[in-house]
Amino acid sequence: MAEWHRVAATDDVGEDDGKQIIIEGHPIGLYKVGGEFFAVDDICTHAFAIISEGYLEEHSIECPLHQGCFDIRTGKALNAPVTVDLKSYPVKVEGDAVLIEFESPAKPDA
Ligand code: FES
Repeated sequence: MAEWHRVAATDDVGEDDGKQIIIEGHPIGLYKVGGEFFAVDDICTHAFAIISEGYLEEHSIECPLHQGCFDIRTGKALNAPVTVDLKSYPVKVEGDAVLIEFESPAKPDA
């Protein structure tokens, strides 16, 4: 079941910047552009690289390893070598808190 998780204060992320947050062990890149927040998975779909350590230009984040780019609004893969989109997550702001809606992976029956 999807739940909203408080992940940061609005001031924790600089404008035109991003940071990694962890929800239930799952790394997610949280970005602020134009005063809006966006969240996408933080591990590249091409190989193992932390996307939030890459170069952000407007709504495009460039992977630091092979320079594939993703749209942080949708997670869409924008150019080679990346071909598989990142998962994106709903984000909302309540007061000075940033919340991400995250659904825990299904656990096998005990
Ligand atoms: Fe991200 Fe290759 S690991 S583009």
